[in-house]
Amino acid sequence: MPPPFKFLVFGATGGTGRHFVSLALQAGHKVTALVRNPAKLPFQDANLTVHQGSITEEVDLDNLVHGVDFVVIMLGDVNLQKDAQINAAFVQKLVPAMRRHGVKRLLYQAGGLSKPYGGQLSPMLWVLRNTLARGYAGQHEDNEAVMAYLATAANDLEWMVHRAGIGSDGPTKGTLKRSPDKFSVATHRDCAAYNYRTVMDPSAIRTCSLSYYEKD
Ligand SMILES: NC(=O)c1ccc[n+]([C@@H]2O[C@H](COP(=O)([O-])OP(=O)(O)OC[C@H]3O[C@@H](n4cnc5c(N)ncnc54)[C@H](OP(=O)(O)O)[C@@H]3O)[C@@H](O)[C@H]2O)c1
Repeated sequence: MPPPFKFLVFGATGGTGRHFVSLALQAGHKVTALVRNPAKLPFQDANLTVHQGSITEEVDLDNLVHGVDFVVIMLGDVNLQKDAQINAAFVQKLVPAMRRHGVKRLLYQAGGLSKPYGGQLSPMLWVLRNTLARGYAGQHEDNEAVMAYLATAANDLEWMVHRAGIGSDGPTKGTLKRSPDKFSVATHRDCAAYNYRTVMDPSAIRTCSLSYYEKD
């Protein structure tokens, strides 16, 4: 599968997603994005196809997935996720569509405070989750439901999860590396660059990794 590639992006108007789309377009790839509000996208590009829609409503997934090389999910709605696992419900519809079209590779961005499937948080991350980040509990539970589904029902796909730590939308702080246990508070931009590299990295398949700056 030679480049340029075709990326299907969910969450393209978000903090990480908009940097991801920009990177992919700058590298000459094609991007298709499903967004609730196209006016929020900060760019137009001949290689960018935008579909308006919501993951909580009926979406023509066969049309979106057809011909795609990589699916990248950087979705979140912290208010809705307090009561409903919208991402998990969506991924459970997306994966069968990917199978129908022979699309194998999917990267899902979760949080560093989301437990990996079958694993635990370090004591430091556990304390953070239950104090400063208490308001995001529903989002982490949704992310964990996605990881559980991928690990138990989608191992025919080349899925990978980035358990990102994000503190700001500032400039780059360096290059994030993949790790089972090292964690940095990164920028959206650096997480997007990590996602861009990682989705094309076969060694990341079926991992639920953290990311860190090597200098930390
Ligand atoms: N932000 C953090 O501090 C942080 C830290 C660690 C991990 N994470 C993880 O990374 C994920 C992405 O974070 P982020 O900060 O990049 O995202 P974000 O800025 O919160 O943006 C979320 C994206 O999801 C889209 N979205 C939400 N509900 C949708 C729906 N029903 N249909 C279609 N699109 C929908 C949003 O669209 P709209 O523009 O229309 O709202 C937006 O593009 C989070 O869910 C979380 O699991 C985030």
